[in-house]
Amino acid sequence: MTVDVVAPLAADALAGLWLDPPVLPTKWLYDERGSRLFDEITRVPEYYPTRRETAILRAHADDIVATSNATTMVELGSGTSTKTRLLLDALAARAAAGVDVTYVPVDVSAEMLAESSTILARDYPGIAIEPTEADFTESELLLPGSPGNRLVVFLGGTIGNFDDDARRAFFDGLAASLAVGDHFLLGADLIKDTGRLVAAYNDKAGVTADFNRNMIEVLRTGLAATGLYADDFDHIARWNPARHRIEMWLRARRDVRAYFAVLQREWVLPAGAEILTEISTKFDPATLDAELADAGLAHVTSWTDPHGDFLLTLSRR
Ligand code: SAH
Ligand code: TRP
Repeated sequence: MTVDVVAPLAADALAGLWLDPPVLPTKWLYDERGSRLFDEITRVPEYYPTRRETAILRAHADDIVATSNATTMVELGSGTSTKTRLLLDALAARAAAGVDVTYVPVDVSAEMLAESSTILARDYPGIAIEPTEADFTESELLLPGSPGNRLVVFLGGTIGNFDDDARRAFFDGLAASLAVGDHFLLGADLIKDTGRLVAAYNDKAGVTADFNRNMIEVLRTGLAATGLYADDFDHIARWNPARHRIEMWLRARRDVRAYFAVLQREWVLPAGAEILTEISTKFDPATLDAELADAGLAHVTSWTDPHGDFLLTLSRR
């Protein structure tokens, strides 16, 4: 763990771990190991969102890039940029026609960002790749590129990981950073059968459980904890119908009494107590487009996959 994450992690831990229930910002799930585990999640049979979103992009990437007339594509929370290749293929065709084209992947996961950018630079020699390590929830986004020719993409249903207030703040902030004519492509998972939703976040192979429990490892190593073990926690994924969201919790299997040397504080969690590590809100298309419109992002086109599981919606400032 690099020194520059210790202070922010300490601040977030102090602000969240002594609440009832304890919480920690979801970005702390994505250290190097967490990013690799998430990448594995995208391939487990129960986790349908990645396959559905890929299908939509395969069918409509050319259309999306043509409609946006983009020369700069900024991707928030880019991860491995795997699905993004479908959009990059369309951008590369523009580059081959003589247009200067730039791709800016933005992520907090430094190792994943560096690794995927190196591979993309090799595979897309016609596109300038400009990786940016940043937290997309912090202050105003400074967007590169020429006004009116930007396409900001936010895939994977990551928008569902914000609560309602954070989502509104995010849309408002993004709209303020965009110039008139810029486009925003948003991927969102849709409300569906509860059994399938819960299974997608509780795969049989246990990859999601390991991903969730990795939060404990991040705390242990980042805050020099003793008495804190990932194996002392159970992974819980449950559907919250009132807030139409999956909630990911870690439940203490026994009384936990940990000491964080970095904080010089003890943390006590009785057996059965739960930490909220992640939410994944599911949407209905009309409500989501209305939220975007409220922020000043006007609906252009949206698509779902043939199963109606996932939504891609393109809007314009
Ligand atoms: N876009 C990819 C990855 C989605 S997982 C896909 O669709 O499969 C969410 C990604 O967002 C991870 O790569 C994670 O590192 C990144 N991330 C999470 N919180 C972030 C934040 N606050 N700022 C920037 N990136 C963040
Ligand atoms: N953006 C992903 C989603 O909401 C993140 C995710 C997938 C996730 N599986 C998870 C987060 C399991 C925590 C635990 O679908």
